[in-house]
Amino acid sequence: MTEALPLVLNPKRLARDEGVDTWYPYYAGFSSRFASAAIAEAELRPGSLVLDPWAGSGTTLCAAVEEGHRAVGIDLNPFAVVLSAAKLCPAPERLKAVEVARPLARRIATSSAPIDELEQWMPTSAARRVEGIATAIRREFDIPADWTAIPPGAAFLLFALVRAVSDLVPRTRVSNPTWSRPGANINISTRDISRDFVRIAEQYASVNPPRKDLADKSRVVLADARSLPIASRSVHLILGSPPYCTRIDYAVTTRLELAVLGCDAGAFATLRRALMGTTAIRSPRTDEIPEHWPRRLRRVLASVRDHPSHRSKGYYLRNLLQYFNDADESLAEIRRTLTARGQALLVLQSSYYKEHELDLAALFADIAREMGLSAEIMFRMPVRRVMTSLNSKSRRYLDTRSYTESLLRLRRH
Ligand SMILES: C[S@@+](CC[C@H](N)C(=O)[O-])C[C@H]1O[C@@H](n2cnc3c(N)ncnc32)[C@H](O)[C@@H]1O
Repeated sequence: MTEALPLVLNPKRLARDEGVDTWYPYYAGFSSRFASAAIAEAELRPGSLVLDPWAGSGTTLCAAVEEGHRAVGIDLNPFAVVLSAAKLCPAPERLKAVEVARPLARRIATSSAPIDELEQWMPTSAARRVEGIATAIRREFDIPADWTAIPPGAAFLLFALVRAVSDLVPRTRVSNPTWSRPGANINISTRDISRDFVRIAEQYASVNPPRKDLADKSRVVLADARSLPIASRSVHLILGSPPYCTRIDYAVTTRLELAVLGCDAGAFATLRRALMGTTAIRSPRTDEIPEHWPRRLRRVLASVRDHPSHRSKGYYLRNLLQYFNDADESLAEIRRTLTARGQALLVLQSSYYKEHELDLAALFADIAREMGLSAEIMFRMPVRRVMTSLNSKSRRYLDTRSYTESLLRLRRH
């Protein structure tokens, strides 16, 4: 059921971002204005706990702190963790980080350091410089090998390095604009990298630092939304947006950024398979539509299974079964971590499989209701430009398709 509510702000990022919102154009990131309005409307007590289980660029986390709350961000992509934690780094830690940036900027990787991923994007000498600085930052701040707890100052410097490198590296856009490949004629010097790393760290140090008292009580963790490292019944508000069924590959989108952070080819492949919404199929594969899933979801999946087109029954059915299994596990975690009076606000965009609409908000609402949560779609907004419309193969269906982005509210009571 659709309910008209005052909160009708477009979740999409604005064309003219300001402050930390300009740091990195994360695909499908919220606008800060939307996140702040959604948090303010929840009328939480000061210092409440706000969670984003798919933190991305950390928009929810920054808005939560800005509104006077504590924030926890979870993301499986190490770059998203670095970016969010950098934005949440308080002013004194940023200034301390800037002080060490200059000496770290001169480091060069040892000859045994793995730089294969970086070498796809830049000359060997530049790759050694990038790896040398990244390793020096990890050592300086004692980042644990599993990346679970990144000190804010380290995240700030790693982000400055990523930003410097991604500005210097030419990228060729391919048919899906969130995918990019190394461009031709790459000519980057070690000096460019060191200079831009220091310049960006100095320049960003004073951009919207968050309140230190609340930032110190906030954290960003490399973890999985399907198994949250968060105590049961401890979260007052969840505001987030999972990957949609639009075949956006967040690992590929951030491949260069991950290479700067030291992610080798094996770790990249593992991350890609693990992310919700991945186009890869994990094992064990299944073709069974679970009987306990809500009727609407089973109907949609059956129409994919029975579609006459090539690979519908095999690949596409399996891929959607995997997606909704991830959604089911994530929603169970949302239910577990919310306080009795807590609520979750999820932004979800519809998509299509051939001519069949996947109304993600309605499907998530059904799954949540089966778990005993109450679910309401607060608003639906038409989306004008979607990824699939840019894919020539799907153009033939365009005339009949319309896409919406919805805000779904889930509550325990
Ligand atoms: C739509 S983006 C979130 C954007 C965010 N709302 C913002 O404002 O930047 C979805 C995020 O979910 C993350 N993700 C995918 N699978 C995940 C999982 N299983 N656990 C946690 N995060 C995951 C992706 O890495 C991506 O950063």
